[in-house]
Amino acid sequence: MGLRPRIAVIRGDGVGPEVIDATLSLLERVVDAEFVEVRAGKAYFNETGLPMEEGGMDKLRESDALLKGPIATPTKGRSYPSVNLRIRREFDLYANIRPFKSYDGISLRRMDLVMVRENVEGLYSGEEELRGDVAVTRRVITRRGARRIAEFAFRLAEREGRAKVTAIHKKNVLKVSDGLFLEEFYHVASKHPSVEADDYIVDAAAYRLVKVDRPFDVMLLPNLYGDILSDVAAGVIGSLGLCGSAQIGDEYAAFEPIHGTAEDIAGRGIANPLGTILAASMMLEWLGIKYREGRLDDIGRKMREAVERAVKDGVLTPDLGGNATTFEVAEAVLERM
Ligand code: NAI
Repeated sequence: MGLRPRIAVIRGDGVGPEVIDATLSLLERVVDAEFVEVRAGKAYFNETGLPMEEGGMDKLRESDALLKGPIATPTKGRSYPSVNLRIRREFDLYANIRPFKSYDGISLRRMDLVMVRENVEGLYSGEEELRGDVAVTRRVITRRGARRIAEFAFRLAEREGRAKVTAIHKKNVLKVSDGLFLEEFYHVASKHPSVEADDYIVDAAAYRLVKVDRPFDVMLLPNLYGDILSDVAAGVIGSLGLCGSAQIGDEYAAFEPIHGTAEDIAGRGIANPLGTILAASMMLEWLGIKYREGRLDDIGRKMREAVERAVKDGVLTPDLGGNATTFEVAEAVLERM
């Protein structure tokens, strides 16, 4: 008998419950898994005063992986520390993987790249203080952190048969922190001679992403650059709703769409679920590799291919110019598996 994975699910806020429920309706019909809900986020906070249910972290720890929707972190009124950051730190999910593949007739440019974003350091160190009228955030890049994310990027390139890894930086200004990031990058690159290595300054990389076809192959980015440039890439692809991501540590991983709670369209049943479905396919592939269950890996790959076919066949939500609903798109993916 094969593995029956236990998957924790945070449905999240805004469009989160819609895209997660559509994805679950699909997942439940293609994999034999146990799904365990963990309540967290703004809606749960407003109801209970807690950002995450008590024992929520233990439920995550007892699961094989987490599938999550976006969680709001309010910047006005009553707020709470980011649940996303807490999960990343607790499980040391240091590698944020975001693939971007273009679609003919939809995307602004041809693109087939993977962003490997450092996910726990940089400007998101959490080290912030107000000294009188001076606000200070420490941008922390450690040698260990820079080395392991570079190692992750080269291994990913080797596994996926990709030719080149490009490190994105601003070493001309941030000589010390990005200097260390780049130094470790080239040190790791020297141990992976079959993959080419080069580097690009972040502002020029932003320009290149929108200006040319096939701008990069694998991009390795410090935290903040990855956060911003991935939305740029999503815009070029056609919609934030079309992109999924994985946050991976040595033991655990969380999978989610790259978009936020999209309050402007929440509750209308029109959010694009494909980013979440692609995140779920990455989850199955990760579980398949981790637990040596080729069956899960296969289902993940079929799901990704079915997403591509559904888009090519024009089953599109309004963000891509169509009029299909969230659930119709999920059904269309299932039919094509
Ligand atoms: P957003 O991604 O929610 O929305 C930006 C634009 O993209 C909006 O026009 C929205 O309608 C559109 N969009 C996003 N997802 C879509 C989908 N699935 N289908 C169709 N259109 C979609 O970005 P925003 O407004 O900056 O963030 C809102 C909230 O989400 C904030 O509280 C933020 O903290 C949170 N957030 C949470 C994330 C997470 O939990 N991983 C990631 C990003 C933001």
